[in-house]
Amino acid sequence: MRYADLYARSIADRDGFWMDQIGAIDWVTPPSKALFDDAAPFYAWFRDAQVNTCWNAVDRHVLAGRGDQTAIIHDSPMTGTTTHISYADLQGRVAALAGALAARGVGLGDRVVIYMPMIPEALVAMLACARIGAVHSVVFGGFAAHELATRLNDAQPKAVIAASCGLEPGRVVAYKPLLDHAIAEATHKPDFIIIFQRDAATATLRDGYDLDWYAAQDGVPPADCVPVSGDHPAYILYTSGTTGQPKGVVRSTAGHLVALAWSMKNLYGVNPGEVFWVASDVGWVVGHSYICYGPLIHGATTVVFEGKPVGTPDAGTFWRVISDHKVASFFTAPTAFRAIKREDPQGLLVQNYDLSSLRCLYLAGERADPDTVIWAQEKLGVPVIDHWWQTETGWAVAGNPMGLDPLPVKIGSPSVPMPGYEIHILDEAGHKVPAGTLGAIAIRLPLPPGTLPTLWNADARFQTSYLTTFPGYYETGDAGYLDDDGYIYIMARTDDVINVAGHRLSTGGMEEVLAAHPDVGECAVVGVADDLKGQVPMGFLCLNRGVTRDAAEVVKECVALVRDQIGPVAAFRLAVVVDRLPKTRSGKILRATMAKIADGVAFKPPATIDDPAILDEIATALRALGYPK
Ligand code: COA
Ligand code: AMP
Repeated sequence: MRYADLYARSIADRDGFWMDQIGAIDWVTPPSKALFDDAAPFYAWFRDAQVNTCWNAVDRHVLAGRGDQTAIIHDSPMTGTTTHISYADLQGRVAALAGALAARGVGLGDRVVIYMPMIPEALVAMLACARIGAVHSVVFGGFAAHELATRLNDAQPKAVIAASCGLEPGRVVAYKPLLDHAIAEATHKPDFIIIFQRDAATATLRDGYDLDWYAAQDGVPPADCVPVSGDHPAYILYTSGTTGQPKGVVRSTAGHLVALAWSMKNLYGVNPGEVFWVASDVGWVVGHSYICYGPLIHGATTVVFEGKPVGTPDAGTFWRVISDHKVASFFTAPTAFRAIKREDPQGLLVQNYDLSSLRCLYLAGERADPDTVIWAQEKLGVPVIDHWWQTETGWAVAGNPMGLDPLPVKIGSPSVPMPGYEIHILDEAGHKVPAGTLGAIAIRLPLPPGTLPTLWNADARFQTSYLTTFPGYYETGDAGYLDDDGYIYIMARTDDVINVAGHRLSTGGMEEVLAAHPDVGECAVVGVADDLKGQVPMGFLCLNRGVTRDAAEVVKECVALVRDQIGPVAAFRLAVVVDRLPKTRSGKILRATMAKIADGVAFKPPATIDDPAILDEIATALRALGYPK
């Protein structure tokens, strides 16, 4: 079918379009209809269905006689090992862990926090929760104890499943002390902890409270799949908003299944039995949708890669993985390619590997800059497909339907809306703007299946964060424009969210941490351009009156504070002490103007600026730091 017809139908007949897709899923009770809008703007998809995610991702493939097919390939240059896990093996592992949870009282709707690195057990833990209708919330390993504590308090899990450690180049990240610290800080205490011990750093387990992964499974019966209703939360995934309190994005079960199945075939062009590799992390939405659920629901083989694009051991690692495992479709963030390009600009290492299995490269998570796209096209000789989405949407808002009707690639654009996403560009007053005009990107409600129905325990915040600025629309927080052919261009965020190496971070959250330093009176954090990571955070610190300490010392402490409170993933290394912050007369800090000064791009100070002389002070301080570069 042609994309244009399919897309038009997905908007004109939402219910019919999505009901046509339900055949990809095994239902206990199929839905009677797709869209339930009786509680709008809280929409539900396939609400009256009964279904189980784990059954669809694991058991049904075994039942269909494909138990011997590899479900997961764990490739870890960090440990020098590669492991293959068949669907039948996965079924046994998942059922056993689900049994361990169920035996200790974890059941339908109970939350389980998962804090694990890129090992197959992370997927086993996610699927075990899905099997018994428990709601998992995976926390990225690069977050510090405080961030973990915030999530424990919000999700109120009955259990935590963690690994003893993660492996980063040059260091072992012991997770257990971070977890213990988080539990001590949190007001909510989980009932028990399950720890998967890794050789690099085994954790000391407290009797009765901390259970060993295998010991917890001893003597308990494996658990069967529990049917849940279509709108049952499959998981909660926290993402950065404008404050230090992350937003708990909820994913409903049935819409998630249907949307991911559609995307595997039509967007990524992958067939069951083929190998799909996403080099991201299970802690991010990309990892949820396309390292764990999407490929497994589709009966493909997923690669769980524990390594980096460079340095593990070299910039040829990605090509080695593609060649070793015959990867058909590969997806990563542009920053990974920038890292490789920096180490191997000529792409010489590509030539050492047979990449003939690879049909397509997908990029997302941040803007795909044209240089990177062109380099990847030239070196790999396959189409490079940028696609745009968010934790909130769970799958692509815009992309190029390579498995259905490949459209011409326009470099700089993630192409066209995916089914059910009615994208409009709006001005500040909420009016649609003509093609080519920059504005806020908004999606007309309802959002399609697979997207967030609300925020965890925060319906009001869901409405104020996303639905209030433009009534009748979901506000994406991104700005951009549509061209005459309906291709979308994503240009910037409209809020205080920045994107560091494809990781979404809140500058507001970092400001909250900096403001807690005893010598800092006022502060601002902005994202400045970075050749490798796209953006990095930069802090501006005004010290309290009377503080006479060496500014460099305070900066050092602030850098350590952010690393300690938010985590290494924040990559907060740049900060400068200034006397004053530029503000409007109403007191709003001019963060965007400061970012422009740091980036060396032309700007016009807003007419409402209180004291333009402060901009010169900021420029002087930045020059001392080597900015603009
Ligand atoms: N657990 C613990 N620490 C982690 C971590 C994890 N899972 N992931 C990252 N970190 C740490 C890193 O070790 C690093 O610490 P350091 O300050 O001590 O060096 C810090 O967090 C920043 O990490 P990262 O953003 O990965 O930067 P890097 O400089 O180590 O590597 C790239 C740069 C480009 C190679 C890397 O960012 C990358 O591979 N990006 C891929 C993008 C991606 O997966 N995006 C996800 C969304 S699709
Ligand atoms: P996350 O929720 O972590 O997936 O981050 C989502 C944000 O990343 C989006 O709102 C965009 O700002 C940015 N983003 C993701 N994909 C793209 C893309 N293909 N092009 C530009 N920005 C992107």
